[in-house]
Amino acid sequence: MSRALVSGFNQAPVTRSASLPVPLDPARLPRHVAVIMDGNGRWARQRNLPRVMGHRQGVEALKRTLRRCSDWGIGALTAYAFSTENWSRPGEEVSFLMTLFERVLQRELGALEQEQVRIRFLGDLEPLPTRLQELIAEATARTATNTGIHFNVCTNYGGRAELVRAARLLAQRVARGELDPDQIDETAFAAELHTAGEADPDLLIRTSGEQRISNFLLWQLAYAELHITEVLWPDFDEAALLAALLDYQGRQRRFGGVDPLG
Ligand code: IPE
Ligand code: IPE
Ligand code: MG
Repeated sequence: MSRALVSGFNQAPVTRSASLPVPLDPARLPRHVAVIMDGNGRWARQRNLPRVMGHRQGVEALKRTLRRCSDWGIGALTAYAFSTENWSRPGEEVSFLMTLFERVLQRELGALEQEQVRIRFLGDLEPLPTRLQELIAEATARTATNTGIHFNVCTNYGGRAELVRAARLLAQRVARGELDPDQIDETAFAAELHTAGEADPDLLIRTSGEQRISNFLLWQLAYAELHITEVLWPDFDEAALLAALLDYQGRQRRFGGVDPLG
């Protein structure tokens, strides 16, 4: 990914290194990485800064991560930006985040478009500020036919809300006579989720050491490998991503089966 994506936002461009780091096996990369970007507030508190400064720095970490995932040939990155529960934070923090999302999207859209990133926003977008909804619609449309990494930003996303919505959509189709309840199987259910069409994440990264899912991708993470790191999200860098990918490559995925070697 070129420097275009990293320009702006008061940071010096980071040197590009498109080649895969030597210890990684290119044949065993995760196709889809999901990340719970946590620890922004603690990062700021450690520096006696307001929490929102952690969010601002967190954007840099997200841009770094997207760039590296794209450079290294990972097909999809899904990032948890704002949960359905995050509305319970102080009003000023919520407003700051909404404005930050708007500013970053506006600033980065041209670069995302140019870099062939296909961006989508997953979640219930209606309660978001109108200007943000407009930018989201524009970004989604302008990048829809891009052929590069799928970048999914979970915004006002909750796993339970997503499952309830899928059940409601299926029930509506049954009520309209379009669907027989016997046709509802895992494929039909998954097709009603926000992530429809995307392979399930192979790897879930959670930063800042918390050992929980926090209502993220409850259906899709069924067989994801979990990597929990103490690194706070604003500090998440290439070395931290490499550590997560190496951890992943050291796992043996069985999907309920048995180890073929014994
Ligand atoms: C994650 O960082 C970002 C969002 C939830 C938007 P936090 O803001 O949760 O940071 P901590 O967990 O308080 O350190
Ligand atoms: C999860 O982090 C949500 C996002 C990263 C957007 P939280 O900080 O909200 O999760 P909890 O409260 O620690 O479970
Ligand atoms: Mg948190």
